[in-house]
Formats: sequence, structure tokens, C-alpha cells
Amino acid sequence: MKKMVANRSHEGSSNGFDSSLKQSRVLERFTFLISRVMEKCEIVIGEGILPEISSFVLPHLGYPSERNSHGEEDEHSVAIISDSRVSKIYGKTLTDSFSKIHTRPPTLISFPFGEASKTLETAARITSKLSTIGMDRQGCLLALGGGVVGDLAGFVASIYKRGVAYYQVPTTLLAQVDSSIGGKTAVNTEWGKNQLGTFYQPKGVFIDTYTLETLPKEEVMNGVSEMIKYGVVADKEMFWQLFKYETFYDTSEIKKFIPRCCKIKAEIVSEDEREHGLRSALNYGHTIGHVLEASSRYSLAHGIAVALGMIAEGWISKELGIFDSNEAIQQEELLQRFLSDAGQKRKIFATLGSIKKSRAISLALSDKKSIQRKIRMSLPERIGRIHFEEKENSYTISVPSNIYISSFRYLEGLVRSTIMKNHN
Ligand SMILES: NC(=O)c1ccc[n+]([C@@H]2O[C@H](COP(=O)([O-])OP(=O)(O)OC[C@H]3O[C@@H](n4cnc5c(N)ncnc54)[C@H](O)[C@@H]3O)[C@@H](O)[C@H]2O)c1
Repeated sequence: MKKMVANRSHEGSSNGFDSSLKQSRVLERFTFLISRVMEKCEIVIGEGILPEISSFVLPHLGYPSERNSHGEEDEHSVAIISDSRVSKIYGKTLTDSFSKIHTRPPTLISFPFGEASKTLETAARITSKLSTIGMDRQGCLLALGGGVVGDLAGFVASIYKRGVAYYQVPTTLLAQVDSSIGGKTAVNTEWGKNQLGTFYQPKGVFIDTYTLETLPKEEVMNGVSEMIKYGVVADKEMFWQLFKYETFYDTSEIKKFIPRCCKIKAEIVSEDEREHGLRSALNYGHTIGHVLEASSRYSLAHGIAVALGMIAEGWISKELGIFDSNEAIQQEELLQRFLSDAGQKRKIFATLGSIKKSRAISLALSDKKSIQRKIRMSLPERIGRIHFEEKENSYTISVPSNIYISSFRYLEGLVRSTIMKNHN
């Protein structure tokens, strides 16, 4: 069993990112095509590449060869959108990257960190700032941060002057393996999360895995549960590699899986941008995960909620005769280890104790996969393979409400007998 030791020397740093201490190295570079819109997206994954990101972005903008009718080089305006935490640590490094080779310095626009900022009001403030700096349709945005920054900046890019180019520079593990790829943009409203949004593809996703060194443990674990999900729905080899770990938050180990996760997401999105089919596989664990998050009033970490969601949905899949029983147990074993490592045990227990049957059903019926007032889920049949329901020609399957409700009881029993037992 591999044991990982935390190694995040920059944790809590607010003095900026000293890139001079880091050697840069590109680990993986590939381009994929979103078939529906025939648009390409380039992905670069590397170590210490943040100071060089301008060299990946500027060729997309035609720099330095593009000339206007007077033979002068055009200087596109570049705006970096970030949150207050990330801009403090990495904003200067990214800004300097452009200042070196692009004579018009980029504008750094920052908003208070956290989900509460993912609103139309923040989006409107950013657009007005873009207008103040005179950004035209040739300009571009860089989203520097986690999923909140990525979703918000992507949303702004899709509506500002009816669309400008944007690039993702994700700095959380969740954003590096999931949210930065695929072009889903969103803001929250008073009636729910991600209720306004667009599908709008970034031209590039540039990932510097060194940024993970400053990421708090809880945020690391949010990304790890998505990695486990990729293993279960699409990559058995990765699942069994993750299975060997006892603890998961050492980013120097876990980052090895980032390129594989990006490839899985890119392959799926390239086939099914709008989530009409295979992309729903990425929702595994999220139907029940969302119910748990909402029941905890969003105090339960997303990664923990999704891990619990996978245990419950894996159990449902087994009860429906879909998931291989032995593999369902092995999935559970890995997720229990993840949960023991992730903490929040009392909160998990309190959340499960607070679930009301009627609310659990109404939340599942409001899920995007639900059709004709039936709860639907995307479920695995083997480790590494999602189930395709031939009869319905669908990657989702309808789940009887009694089995759905029983899965919460199963989860509570499991948490009481195993995860809580080790609580001190
Ligand atoms: N578009 C999609 O396909 C998609 C998929 C999944 C999730 N999402 C969205 O993503 C959001 C969650 O994203 P998230 O988990 O990245 O949260 P986040 O963006 O809020 O980031 C979490 C926290 O970590 C901080 N942070 C980010 N990078 C850091 C770093 N390198 N060092 C130190 N601190 C750092 C941030 O300031 C923030 O406080 C949600 O709004 C969710 O709806 C979108």
C-alpha cells in the first residue's frame, strides 16, 4: 500500500509564486476537436510553465506576425480574470509572462474568492471593466484559478461583444482534471447553482501542476474524487493504480494522473459536447452527491459528497443487476479509504441523518438527467466501463424511487459501521 506524505511547501503563501526556483517542463501537449462545432482546443500540461503561458497563447492570436493595413503589428488586448486568492499568488507571474513579449500589458481583473462570487453581478462588473480598457472582439481572456473563475470567465467570454476567445489556466486539481475542459460556463442565481450558462469552448487549457503546491488539502481532495470517478467510468488501469494508495492528498504523487484524466475528458467532450449521451457518464456519483451537498447547505465538501454519491450509486447499480458485485465492493473499499482520509466525518453523519425522503426525491427529480418525472442515473457495469442501456438507447437508466431511497439507508449504515468507527 502506497502512503503519500503531504508536500505543499507554499501552503498559505501570499507572497507570490517564485518561478525562478522552478524548472519548466512540458509533460503532455495535444489538441482535440469538438466535433459538434468543429472547434479545436489545445491542452498543455507541464511543470513550471506558468511564466511561459504567453508563448502558448500568443500564437493563437496570430502574434507576432499579424499586421494591420498600415503594416503595423496588431496588439490584442489580453485580460486575466482571477479571484482574490489566486491572483495574489500567481497573478504577477502570469502578467509578467505577457509583459515580456507583448507590448500592451495584460489587465488583471480580480473578484473575491468563493462560490458566492459566481453571479451575474460579478460577470457584469467584469464586462464593464473590459469595456473600460477598450477590449474589442480580437481581445482574449485568461481564466486563472479554480472552477469558479473558469466558469465565470468562460461565461463572460461567451457574452462579451457576442464572444471573444478565452483560455483556461486552471489552478485547482478539480479544474485541472475536469472543469477547465469541455466549455461549460455558468453563473449561479437565487434559484440554484449553474442556472445560467452557455456552452463555449476555450481555445486552450494550460495546466501548470506546480500551482497545486499551494492548494489546501480539502481542495486537493475535491479533485481526487473526480479522478476516482474517471477510473470507475472510463479507465480501469487508473482505478487500480489509485487503489494502491492509502492516502491521497500528496499532489506530487496524484498529479501523475492529470494527463490521463484530461485525455478522458477531452475524448468524451469531443464526441458529446452537449451531454446528450456519453458525457452524462461524468455525472456518475453526482445525482446523490448533489442531494447530499444541498442537504448539508453546501457545507459538505464537493469531493466528499461525490465520493458518497459513488458509493450509493454503485450500490444502486449492483441492486439493479448492472454493476459486477465484486467490483462494486472494490470501488467501495477505495472510496472508504478516500473518505477516511478526507475528514468531515461528523458532518457526513449529520448530513445523512438529516435527509428527508420527499426532499431527496424532489432534488433527484430536478436533476438535469431526470425525464418524465423519473429519477435517472449514469451507472457503471464494470470498473472502467459505464453501462449503456440498449432498450432506451441511453447512457442513463431510470432508477425506481424505493431503491433510490434505500441507497441512503445503505450509505448511513456503512458510514456508521466503518467510516465513523475510525473517527477520533
Ligand atoms: N464547467 C464545468 O464543467 C464544471 C465542472 C465541475 C465543477 N464546476 C464548477 O467549479 C466550481 C468549483 O471549482 P473549484 O473546486 O476549483 O473551486 P474554486 O474555484 O472556488 O477554488 C477553491 C478555492 O481554492 C483557491 N485556489 C485555487 N487555486 C489555488 C491554488 N493553486 N493555491 C491556493 N488556493 C487556490 C480559490 O481561491 C478558492 O478559494 C463550482 O462552481 C462548480 O460548479 C464546473
